[in-house]
Parts: sequence; structure tokens; C-alpha cells
Amino acid sequence: MRREPVRPDIAELELTGISRIAVGAMHDPEVIPLWFGESDIVTPDFIREAAKKALDDGQTFYSSSRGTPALRAAILRYHERIYGLGLAEGRLIVPGSTMLAVTCACQCLLSDGDEMLLIGPYWPNIARAVAICGARIREVRLNEGPGRWSLDLPAVEAALTPETRAVYVNSPSNPTGWIMTAEEQRALLDLCRRRGVAVLSDEVYHRNVFTGRDPAPSFLEIAGEDEPVFVVNGLSKGWCMTGWRLGWLIGPARLAEPLAVLSECMSTGATVFAQAGAIAALEQGEEFLATFRERCRINRDLVMDILGGHPRVDLLEPEGAFYAFPRIEGVRDSLSLARRILHERKVGTAPGYTFGRGNDAHLRLCFAIDTPRLKEALERIVQVLDD
Ligand SMILES: Cc1ncc(COP(=O)(O)O)c(C=O)c1O
Repeated sequence: MRREPVRPDIAELELTGISRIAVGAMHDPEVIPLWFGESDIVTPDFIREAAKKALDDGQTFYSSSRGTPALRAAILRYHERIYGLGLAEGRLIVPGSTMLAVTCACQCLLSDGDEMLLIGPYWPNIARAVAICGARIREVRLNEGPGRWSLDLPAVEAALTPETRAVYVNSPSNPTGWIMTAEEQRALLDLCRRRGVAVLSDEVYHRNVFTGRDPAPSFLEIAGEDEPVFVVNGLSKGWCMTGWRLGWLIGPARLAEPLAVLSECMSTGATVFAQAGAIAALEQGEEFLATFRERCRINRDLVMDILGGHPRVDLLEPEGAFYAFPRIEGVRDSLSLARRILHERKVGTAPGYTFGRGNDAHLRLCFAIDTPRLKEALERIVQVLDD
């Protein structure tokens, strides 16, 4: 019998619920899109100009596969400025997008039969990055209330097995908007130290903060430079640069060489002229970050007013990122509800089931778009809930 040209576990992978709902409707201009994790703001001029200049200057050649020297230096200066940290240069790779940085970390950590514990609800692509390493996921859901989402540390401890290689945590969180406190980070790191497990911390929303300190607390601030702690980050979410595909990974100092090899094999480095735009973003972006954050804060309050007050909705106030993750009373099939909202009222939402176990009564809404359009979308959703 002829063998299929695909690994059986890869053949089993399914599209995420976000893609399932958006396929076929994502180019319909009548749909108000709250399903993807991005704003409708075009990347600011000063960032685009820097990339255009690099292109005009002929920056069209290979550069270091770990990131151009200029961007690497800018990322290190940025960490010095926002966290007061002097990081060793060898710990950093810029393979391309933040998603690719996650993939590099997973490839570094996981082999066939290993496990990664995901703190949920979690962005579904992470589970797929684990699966393509031949590894399995376990999930531990955050405590949902009272008042806020919070880490269930005893449940995390109970879920660790001899196969667990790492715990993945994302804060500020997609989809809940939870921000992990510094105390929660310390407690999780202590547990992982005791159990010999690595941490993969996804901090891509670190500047999308409404509650507490900006930037959000980082594992880089508490972990030693040679500890098995991998921090991924990138420009997509704070600077409205989703189409640029730029992110980075900071890993243990002693793994500088394997990380460099991974970066080389994944993409041989990110697009060179795009990296010039990233330098401008990191060095001149504070004003834009504050303006965007304020828009999202206003929108967050609008979501809380319109949806949070609805009798069928339980919604914990997002502390960061730009998503609301309401639980809708009486719903058992979030995909059907998202389909109804799309077909009856032309609003694109993401079904909760795709964010891990225990979320099938939820929807995820991205609230980073223009405020009047968001208001219109929320009112249409309420019409469906009232029907
Ligand atoms: C939690 C999380 N991590 C990583 C990413 C990937 O970011 P990028 O678009 O920079 O690859 C996303 C994007 O939605 C995300 O929500």
C-alpha cells in the first residue's frame, strides 16, 4: 500500500475555530470583523517610512539569521529602557513572526511523546505548534472569577507529569485579557524550578495594558539568564504591525547556539527592510503605543457597558490585550452561536471552544477596531442574544 506523504499526526490537525468561521466570509465588506486579533489602524507612518527608506537604500540582501545587528541592538536597548534589564546578546533571536518564535521555542523544548502544559483559555495556534513537534498538550484553565481571572496553581501542580517539559503561559492573555501578577509569575516559576520544568512565556501583548504597570510584568525580570525560561514577544499587537511578521525569542544563555540554528532553519531571518521599520517602532513608538492603548481602553469600557450589563452575559473585565471573552448563558455550542451572529447580523466573532476545554459557552471579540464600528457590532450581537 502506498504511504500518504504526510505524518499521521499532522494529517489529523484541524483548522482553528477562528479560521473555520472566517473562511468564506472574511472578505465580505458588510461583515464587521471582531474575529482576528488586530486593529483596523494602518501601521504608523514613521514605521512605514523607515522600512521604505531601507528598501530604497537597497537593504534587500541576507542578513544575520538571528536578526539584523541593528534590530538586535534596538531590542536589547528596548529591554534596558522598559524593564531596566541588560540581557546577554546571545539569548536573542528574531526568526520572523512571534508565532515563529513560539515554534522555535517548542522545537527547542519538545520531542515525540513529550507534553506541554497550556494555561487556558489559550490561543489555539499554540496547541498546533506543540502538535507539530509530535508532543501532546495538557490544559489547566484559569479560575474564572470572582472578579478576575487568576492562576490555579494547585491545578497546575497536579497536572504536571513526568512527560511535562514546559508550561506555556500568555499574559496579557488572548482571549481573556487576564494579566498575570508578578506574584503569580514568581509562584509559577518556583513550581517549575522545583519540578524541573521549563517556562514558555508569551508576552506579545506586554504593552496592551489597562490595569497595573505598563509594560506588564515579565518572566525576564525574575528568571536567571541560564534558567529554562523562554520569552516570546513581538511588534504585531502594540504597534499595529500584524502584517510585518516580526517577533523575537529570548532563551537561556547557554542555548545561544541551538537557538541560532533554529532561527536559521525556520526562515534564515526575518525580512530585512521590515526589520528597519521595527527599529523605528521600538525607538520612537511610545506616543503611538499610548494613543492606541487609550483607544482600546475606551473600547473595553464600551464592551463592558453594552455586553457586560446584558442579563445573559458574564464578562470579567479585560485587564490587558484587546479581547473580551464573554460567557453566554444557555449556550452550549459556541460555533453555532458564532455562525448565527455572522449569518444573521454580519458580525465576525471567534467561537470559544477553540480556546481549549471549558470554553464552549464563550465567544471571543477583538475590540481594537474603530469605536463607532465596534458599537454597531456590539449592538448587533445583543440583537441575537435577545432573539
Ligand atoms: C497569544 C499570542 N501569541 C502569539 C501570537 C502571534 O503573533 P504574531 O502575529 O506576531 O505572529 C498571537 C497572535 O494573535 C497571540 O495572540
